[in-house]
Amino acid sequence: MSDEDLELLKFYHEEGIDCTLTEDEEEKKVEKVKDNNPIQSPAIQAEVQKKEQQSMFPSDWIIEARKLASKCVSVDELRSVVRSFEGCEIKKTATNTVFSNGNPNAKIMLVGEAPGANEDLQGIPFCGASGMLLNKMLNAINLDRTKVYISNTVFWRPPGNRKPTDLELDMCRPFVEKHIALISPKILILVGGIACYSLLDNTKTISTLRGRFHTYTNQYLSRSITTAAIFHPAYLLRQPAQKLLAWEDLKQIREYLDNTHNCTNV
Ligand code: URA
Repeated sequence: MSDEDLELLKFYHEEGIDCTLTEDEEEKKVEKVKDNNPIQSPAIQAEVQKKEQQSMFPSDWIIEARKLASKCVSVDELRSVVRSFEGCEIKKTATNTVFSNGNPNAKIMLVGEAPGANEDLQGIPFCGASGMLLNKMLNAINLDRTKVYISNTVFWRPPGNRKPTDLELDMCRPFVEKHIALISPKILILVGGIACYSLLDNTKTISTLRGRFHTYTNQYLSRSITTAAIFHPAYLLRQPAQKLLAWEDLKQIREYLDNTHNCTNV
């Protein structure tokens, strides 16, 4: 044994290190600390939580999302729970969590699809080209972002602006549902096919769902909410001829707001 090895052994001995651990044993040690020591330092708690999360399956994360969502009693609490949720893979490639924009006391809530590049950078829903057209659509029926509340079916940008997968939608849905229940709008407007697919009816296209009102409810709501489906502004930018139908839908929403006693002048 060299002098250097001897020095190293002496150092281990003085530090009380009397064995080496394999990765498995490291994991068992974290488990043991967790079982034996109810009062743990924040660093150990974080390590234990990280290890637990690494072994979670997607289905566990959906259950976790439901548990977390059901406990939230305010929009601020929900925002912070969503920000710290680690189940959704798209969070890893996103710059920001995109939670909401607009007036949380509004009687009108819009749910879009997913953040795009601008939204990801700024952390604000509908702040890019689609958002500009959405603003014009709202203005056309005397609404603006002070009178509506806006969120999406997922809170992180899917890479390359692809559509959110079923798993991503399933994982975020408990939060979206709780979000709707906490805002409790008089009318819910689903913006585009993906919002309809995730929240209203996953068997019908937006073309068959638009143009009429639906009733929406979820596990966190004690009542149903009148719901409309409108074309997504990104679709309208690609298919301007469809703006005619979009205008019909917006007029119908305005009429509904005018004729519902609580909603006059919103
Ligand atoms: N498209 C959406 O559906 N949501 C956004 O926030 C931006 C673009």
